[in-house]
Amino acid sequence: MSDDLKATLERTVAEARSALEAVQSLEELERLRTAHLGRKGSLTLLLRRIGSLPPKLRGPFGQLCNAEKRELEQLLEARRRELAALQLSGVRDFDPTTPGLRVSGGHEHPVLAMRREIEDIFLSMGFLILDGPEVETEYYNFEALNIPDHHPARDMQDTFWIETGPESRWVLRTHTSPMQVRAMERFGVPIRTIVPGRVYRNETLDATHEATFHQVEGLVIDRGISVGHLKGVMAAFLGELFGRNVDVRLRPHYFPFVEPGFELDFKCAFCGGAGCRVCKQTGWIEILGCGLVHPHVLRAGGADPEEYSGFAFGMGIERLTMMRHSIEDIRHFHSGSLRFFEQF
Ligand code: DAH
Repeated sequence: MSDDLKATLERTVAEARSALEAVQSLEELERLRTAHLGRKGSLTLLLRRIGSLPPKLRGPFGQLCNAEKRELEQLLEARRRELAALQLSGVRDFDPTTPGLRVSGGHEHPVLAMRREIEDIFLSMGFLILDGPEVETEYYNFEALNIPDHHPARDMQDTFWIETGPESRWVLRTHTSPMQVRAMERFGVPIRTIVPGRVYRNETLDATHEATFHQVEGLVIDRGISVGHLKGVMAAFLGELFGRNVDVRLRPHYFPFVEPGFELDFKCAFCGGAGCRVCKQTGWIEILGCGLVHPHVLRAGGADPEEYSGFAFGMGIERLTMMRHSIEDIRHFHSGSLRFFEQF
């Protein structure tokens, strides 16, 4: 009888152990536990039969049964931890030869990449990089830049006005130029700075006009600054940006905050001046507005025009980016289209 029971015990335990090795999920494991250790489990039933043994065999057999039961419980628990860990990591049968999942990490927006490139070039020429407010006062956006109220120059830029009280009128800055006066006030002169940032125009949208875009403003004030410095710095900058020597030319143009004012063209870097699609067959590309800082603006910034002079410039970052990558429509930049952005 006891030999019988002992053989049954051994067989039951062996079965349980080999079943345990094959278990692949927590659910299967739970079923196995119930089958052997549950209320009607095989080991539980065996333990119940101890009572039917002759008294002197009950003790040793009971001890044997309990030892096996404890060991099985431990094995079950160890396997349970293993399976739970696998479930957490999502790894079951790890095959090191399976190709990895490609992580798509994203990258800089092409306009941001261009902005960083511009910043790097001016940093290397010793320029300070400043940030300014996008919600700006009427004073800094217009008046301090020699654009008084009712002056026709106000209509050059379609403005988003912000509703405020009668004394203080605010705008979404229409250009980065308001930082010229803010920078002089904050840091004094001499100064050499660029201000990249977002600007806003209340414009009809088309392939070359957006309601918001980015500019980089530049300002250099010192004693004896001339148009020669302006031209030299612009040529150095554009040469770095396009990776070669570039010719630049200045065409007179009216901007209220500079005198004289210019539009700056550079010899088309794509065709070398022979004429192509990018330069619309003219051989030259208009790239920025610039000039010598107007005495009114110097004074607004606290600098004495008798002692100091300087140049300023402003350019659109989207325009440069479009030129660099032959992008035909400015609206792509805000499209959010991955098909567009994955090309960069
Ligand atoms: N603020 C001008 C615009 O948005 C660009 C500009 C022209 C900036 C001439 C300047 C400048 O600093 O000297 O159209």
